[in-house]
Amino acid sequence: MANTAPRKLERIISAMNTSDGAGVRLRRSLGSSEGTRLDPFLMLDEFSSDNPGDYIAGFPSHPHRGFETVTYILDGHMRHEDHLGNQGDLRSGGVQWMTAGRGIIHSEMPQQEEGRMRGFQLWINLPAKEKMKPAGYRDIPAEEIPVHELPSGGRVKVIAGTLPVNGHTIEGPIAGLTTEPMYLDVQLPAGASFSAPIPSGLNAMAYVFEGNLQLAGDTRMLPTHSGAVLTDGDSVEFIAGSSGARFLLLAGRPLNEPIVQYGPFVMNTTAEIEQAVRDYQTGRLTAT
Ligand code: FE2
Repeated sequence: MANTAPRKLERIISAMNTSDGAGVRLRRSLGSSEGTRLDPFLMLDEFSSDNPGDYIAGFPSHPHRGFETVTYILDGHMRHEDHLGNQGDLRSGGVQWMTAGRGIIHSEMPQQEEGRMRGFQLWINLPAKEKMKPAGYRDIPAEEIPVHELPSGGRVKVIAGTLPVNGHTIEGPIAGLTTEPMYLDVQLPAGASFSAPIPSGLNAMAYVFEGNLQLAGDTRMLPTHSGAVLTDGDSVEFIAGSSGARFLLLAGRPLNEPIVQYGPFVMNTTAEIEQAVRDYQTGRLTAT
């Protein structure tokens, strides 16, 4: 039965300071421990710094198997290279959607020696039957991401999924995936509200990265660098705090399958993880 109630705040996840790659400082909300996943989302990292020492070492060559990575750059310039020969420049406002499938080996390196680097990486799980599919990669420059200007003065970027507006539907460049991901970047001025339908049955969360935010009808204030996991329902309404708000709105169809993770490998069983490690050690991770 579809749940037609408005979604409410179920729990707040505070981002934890950590580092990854060759020493990139970041804030991890989803995935900071086992219990903070939100099926099908495995991990959400925010990186944001004006100090090159926090990001310059980047993410040298490393493998992935069994899921997808979505990198959204707000400020800065990163370069991606992988074993398939893909080379991509990720610039401000652009998105890289990478399906590791059975295996990808890639590097993600900053192309700037000063200035601000800011963005996100989201890991989305793949269903068991798609974990060993061939790797895929797509660069989506900022110009290909639809922007909807809100009457309140804010705006929404539709990276994945759809947003109905005044009788028509804005479609993001990413569609047709089993997990039905919705990925919006919403910016609101102080006190403005924003509502959106989210199909019942999808897991959803908002991640606040500027200002603060409330759910309509809820007195709790979501501070900067916090994630709000939502209850089920078919819509959600937010109200920006006194200094405005900018947040990601993420939703996806849960897979309800067992997860066994070992670093950059995410499979369904321990045997599959052992196989992934063996394949990587013997140079067969990406073999078709
Ligand atoms: Fe990676």
